[in-house]
Amino acid sequence: IKRVTTNTLQEMKNKGEKIAMLTAYDYSMATIIDDAGIDVLLVGDSASNVMAGHETTLPITLDQMIYHASSVVRAAKRALVIVDLPFGSYQGNSKEALNSSIRIMKESGAHGIKLEGGLEIAESVSRILAAGIPVMGHLGLTPQSIYKFGTYSVRAKEEAEAQKLRDDALKLQELGCFGVVLEKIPAMLAKEVSDSLYIPTIGIGAGPHCGGQVLVVHDMLGINKGFTPRFLRQYANLYEIMGNAVKGYVSDVKSHDFPNHKEQY
Ligand code: KIV
Ligand code: NA
Repeated sequence: IKRVTTNTLQEMKNKGEKIAMLTAYDYSMATIIDDAGIDVLLVGDSASNVMAGHETTLPITLDQMIYHASSVVRAAKRALVIVDLPFGSYQGNSKEALNSSIRIMKESGAHGIKLEGGLEIAESVSRILAAGIPVMGHLGLTPQSIYKFGTYSVRAKEEAEAQKLRDDALKLQELGCFGVVLEKIPAMLAKEVSDSLYIPTIGIGAGPHCGGQVLVVHDMLGINKGFTPRFLRQYANLYEIMGNAVKGYVSDVKSHDFPNHKEQY
């Protein structure tokens, strides 16, 4: 199998071929997703919510991200594996940002990193790129800033924030990022930004005009019960399927049906 690289993603953008990205946090799930043909596996800091049950992405640590990332890397035969720098591991200190990125690359074997923000983190982005580490940007609804925003609703509806996002996207491209995630912004703004860049944009809740799409895998598989934002398409209801399987097991154990004579030594 030919490995997807950042060059592959650029070629896909050039050809108008859409990029499919999903999150993954563990070996078993990443094996299924990679084998099913995903282009990019994102070890998102959404692991803080999805895997650990925290309310926000802020508590997850660099060590925990590296643990998730190394599990995903062992599973990925074809996909490019990108890892989020967690909150507190890069903001405001480009040396620390570089050290965090180097730890992720060395200790997990991942292929690149992603961080949230634009102009504010330009120095960190440059420094990481100068070390030869591919960097992906992330603009719009950046969940590590949730306490600044105060809400998870759509960003950049006002012109001032939209203009900052346009400038940030161009800046990230100019610095050398291989792509930018656009989260929860108006579809027309995402189209404008996507058309203005030569590098691919990857949207989540950002409409159909981005170079690719990303979702949290637990959301699209319907494992997260009750999380149904407008942008989410649910491809399965695993909460129900897995719940029914567990109910069947409990019932079979209680009724002495499991294990039967063929299921013993
Ligand atoms: O952490 C995450 O899952 C993400 C994606 C939603 C883009 O950053
Ligand atoms: Na993230």
